[in-house]
Amino acid sequence: MGLTLDNPFIVSSSSLTDNADKVKKCADAGAGAVVLKSLFEEEIQAEIDASGEGTDHTEAVDYIREIQTGAGIKRYTTLIKDASAAVSIPVIASVNAVTRNWWEQHVPRLEAAGADAIELNISLMPYDYKDSEAAILDFYIKTVESVCKLVSVPVAVKIGFHFTSIPAVVDALKWAGARAVVLFNRFYQLDIDTTNLRLKSGSPMSSRDDLALPLRWITMMYGKTEAELAASSGVHQGDDAVKVLLAGAQVVQVCSTVYKNGYEHLGVMQRELEAWMDGQNFQTIDAFRGRLSQKRSDKPETFERLQYIQALVGQS
Ligand SMILES: Cc1cc2nc3c(=O)[nH]c(=O)nc-3n(C[C@H](O)[C@H](O)[C@H](O)COP(=O)(O)O)c2cc1C
Repeated sequence: MGLTLDNPFIVSSSSLTDNADKVKKCADAGAGAVVLKSLFEEEIQAEIDASGEGTDHTEAVDYIREIQTGAGIKRYTTLIKDASAAVSIPVIASVNAVTRNWWEQHVPRLEAAGADAIELNISLMPYDYKDSEAAILDFYIKTVESVCKLVSVPVAVKIGFHFTSIPAVVDALKWAGARAVVLFNRFYQLDIDTTNLRLKSGSPMSSRDDLALPLRWITMMYGKTEAELAASSGVHQGDDAVKVLLAGAQVVQVCSTVYKNGYEHLGVMQRELEAWMDGQNFQTIDAFRGRLSQKRSDKPETFERLQYIQALVGQS
């Protein structure tokens, strides 16, 4: 994305990065960059709904909407300014909106506040049976196209893994203007409390098993799409970072492991990566990035299928 990072570890968008002190903790612990906690359209909408309760006058509702939205954006631009002033590593702003108009209106203000890049967290949850797959993809593409026309900083798009063809989506986002795609967002997990017969939330934290999905798709796409690929989901140790870099990731986003092990774990993972590089005699990450991708395979046409068949028949 044209950003210079000292190392590939980025603290991903979460409450680990929701104020300048925490962003400084990330930088002090050795993060290469941070993605700030997302600005959520729906969170601001909830504030508007709460403050407009009991008001049915349309003009009053519009006024409250404007004030609350302005206050929400102001809080976020202050976060960008404070975080950027506190650290010298790149600070990436993150937005999660559900209406196109909202992205177009507000994303330019994040650039103006000093964000080094913007991550669009597009996580639509299609619950309407009338929302076709084509219409949803069209929303993604048009949103990215219009945002990229409005800002000059690089834009990344963070997506989930529920698509019919992830390579097609990644490529479409690239052609819409995204410089990078983050694979993958971890959606809100739903669970059911069988004692109290209630819905409850599942664990927001990932486990190392979740690495399998970014690993598969980055391995398949490295060198074939012009989008840079950031791995997110399941990177908990230095060895996991080694794997996604060997697959072809440009950078490694980490979140759950930092919640679990503290900011200092960023330094631990970095040292584990360096120790592995020393052991393998690699001086730079470029020397091994994508080494185990499908593109670099000697049997690209049977790459993934071959692994599957070998697993089935138990061959090494
Ligand atoms: C408590 C929590 C809060 C999060 N908040 C956000 C957010 O505001 N925006 C976002 O794009 N992702 C958010 N995420 C998702 C993470 O950025 C990350 O993509 C996901 O946790 C997978 O990475 P991991 O396996 O390293 O945890 C959140 C995750 C957690 C656990």
